[in-house]
Amino acid sequence: MGKADMGESLQNELDAMAREISETYEELTLLYRLSQKFSTLLDMDELLHLVNNEIFEQLNVDKIFLLLIDEESGNLKIASSSLEISGGDISDCAKITTGLAMDATMGLKLILDNKVAKNSPDFIFNKGETGKVICTPLKVKNKPIGTLNIYRESDKDDFTSKDFKLVEAIANQAASSIANCRLYKEMHDMLLGIIKSLISTLEAKTAFGSGHSGRTAIYSKAIADEMGLSNEEKEDLQISAILHDVGKIGLNDSTLESGSDLTTDEMVKLMEHPLKGSSIIKSIKRLGTVTPGIMHHHEFFDGSGYPDGLKGNAIPLQARIIAVANDFEKNAYILNRKGLTNEMAVEKIKGNSGTLYDPDVVRAFLTAHEKNTIPKKGL
Ligand SMILES: [Fe+2]
Repeated sequence: MGKADMGESLQNELDAMAREISETYEELTLLYRLSQKFSTLLDMDELLHLVNNEIFEQLNVDKIFLLLIDEESGNLKIASSSLEISGGDISDCAKITTGLAMDATMGLKLILDNKVAKNSPDFIFNKGETGKVICTPLKVKNKPIGTLNIYRESDKDDFTSKDFKLVEAIANQAASSIANCRLYKEMHDMLLGIIKSLISTLEAKTAFGSGHSGRTAIYSKAIADEMGLSNEEKEDLQISAILHDVGKIGLNDSTLESGSDLTTDEMVKLMEHPLKGSSIIKSIKRLGTVTPGIMHHHEFFDGSGYPDGLKGNAIPLQARIIAVANDFEKNAYILNRKGLTNEMAVEKIKGNSGTLYDPDVVRAFLTAHEKNTIPKKGL
C-alpha cells in the first residue's frame, strides 16, 4: 500500500471514529434529556403524550401505538396512540392484530420489519395497508409491561439500526417512568382512601351527615374546571376540600350534631377548626400545598370571615373556591332533604357575590351549575 493509500485509509478510519463518537454523544445527550423530561412526570396521560411527541420529533413516523398489559385481564391494551383510540382493547381493534406486538412484549425482544407482507396478520394498520414497523418491549426489572410500536408508510425509507436503538432508548426511559407513575398513583389512591375514611367517621356525627366533604370536593372541582386551574392545582384543591373540616376532630358530639344553637364556648371551639385542621395537615409533608384551603375556607371576600379576617385576593384561591362550594353544599343539602331543588342555595351564592364570595368564583360556579356539572338537584 502506497503512502497516499495509507493516508487515505487512516483518514477513513478517523472519519468513521469521529462519526461513531458523534453518534454516541448524540445518544447520550438524548438519554440524558429523556430521563430529565420523563422522570419528573407523575401523570400517566402527560407522560404518554410526551413519549408520542418525542418519537414524532426524533423519527419520521406515521403512527405510534403504546400498548400496556392490563393488570386485571393480562391482555395488551392501547394506552396511547397517534390515532386517538386510547382505551381500546387490542383484541377488539380491527386495525391492529396482536402478532408482532405480542411477540415483542412477551419475548422481550425488539422487532424490526421493513416489509410487513400484504395481508399479513401482523400489525396491519388499515385493511390492505402494509408498511414498516418497529416493536419494542417495555420492561421493568426485566418483566414485560407492554410494547411501543411505531409504523412508517411503505413508500418511506426503511427503518435503520440507528432508529432501532433510538426507539429502544425511548422505550426504556418510558417504561421506568410508567412504573413510577403507577406507583405514585397507587400511593396517592391509598392516601386518599385513608383521608376519606377518616373524614367519613367524623362526618357521621355532624349535623350535615356523611358525604358533605366529598360533595364539597366535587363542586370545588367543577368551579376549578371553569376557572381553568391546572391539573396540579385541581388535585390540591380537591384534597383540601375533602379535608377542610378535619379540624373538627376532637369537638364533642353535641357541638358536631348541632347545626346551630351553640353556646358561646361551643362556638369559640368550633371556630378554631380551620386553624386546628391546618396544623394537623401541615405536619404531613406531601399535604403542605393543601393547607391554605383548610386554614381559610371560612374567610369572606369582604374581610368579615375568620380566622384572620383576610380580604379579597389576600384569601388563597383554594379557600375562595372551597368557601363557595362548602356553603352551597350545606344549603343545598338542607333543601334537598325537604325535597326541594338547589335553586334557593344557588340564589344565596349569587346574592353574596362580591361580599361573602369572590365574584370570579361565583361566576365559575354559576356556569358549572348551568352546565349541570354542579347538579340542579342534590348529588
Ligand atoms: Fe368548616
